[in-house]
Amino acid sequence: MTATWLDFWQTENEFDESMSANYAYFLAHVETLVSLTSGTRVLDIGSGPGNLEDAWYNRVAELHGIDISERYNALARTKHADHSTVFFHDLPADDYLNFSVVAGRQFDLVIVMSVVQYYRNANEAMQLLANIKQLAAPGAKALICDLIVEEGVMGDVLSILGRSLRQGQLLTMLKLLFRLRFSDYYEVRKQNGILVIPESVWLAGCKRLGLNARFIAEPLTMQQERRNLLIEF
Ligand SMILES: C[S@@+](CC[C@H](N)C(=O)[O-])C[C@H]1O[C@@H](n2cnc3c(N)ncnc32)[C@H](O)[C@@H]1O
Repeated sequence: MTATWLDFWQTENEFDESMSANYAYFLAHVETLVSLTSGTRVLDIGSGPGNLEDAWYNRVAELHGIDISERYNALARTKHADHSTVFFHDLPADDYLNFSVVAGRQFDLVIVMSVVQYYRNANEAMQLLANIKQLAAPGAKALICDLIVEEGVMGDVLSILGRSLRQGQLLTMLKLLFRLRFSDYYEVRKQNGILVIPESVWLAGCKRLGLNARFIAEPLTMQQERRNLLIEF
């Protein structure tokens, strides 16, 4: 039986296919907030199977995905073997805020999608902010997305169902939620919990680090309850 979040991401799981539906929603909306050019250097923290890289590999200068899951990195590397500007780096699972794999680089855009909820505590999220600050080029933007800022599973479920209905994806989403309920995800979440960090804690952390940050009003993911933090450097 899977026990930790790391084990979960290292093993074939229910998200492998469903993530791309959520990502498609993000991709359709994100360019109202950020602009891509052939010079843009992108860092994708928690890159998973490489959904961002699949969409942007020929639109930007460089894409660097970093993830604790060697399984996802291997999968993503295979897909992008012929793309010389796409890189996937392994993060140490027991030291995942050690970003030495990209040390010395500068990025114009940093994306963190559906990752922070798997951190252990809010201090780690504050370390993430400090890491991003270190890697951001002047004028860069960072989007930390799909943040859970309030307790309560029901709001999450209802919002994703409502949005799926409007997207014509209700049946797909119902099937996923049903599968999740009887899956390792449900068990791992029960055992390890999921991290909730209130908006006020995020904003206070940004202020301490001197970051210009705000939660954006428009949804960027199918789960409208989740919030998205934009940092401008
Ligand atoms: C829900 S998936 C999202 C993947 C991708 N960002 C997307 O939206 O398609 C969560 C990803 O975060 C990764 N992850 C979980 N905990 C992490 C951590 N502490 N540091 C970096 N990546 C992590 C998992 O391996 C997985 O690839």
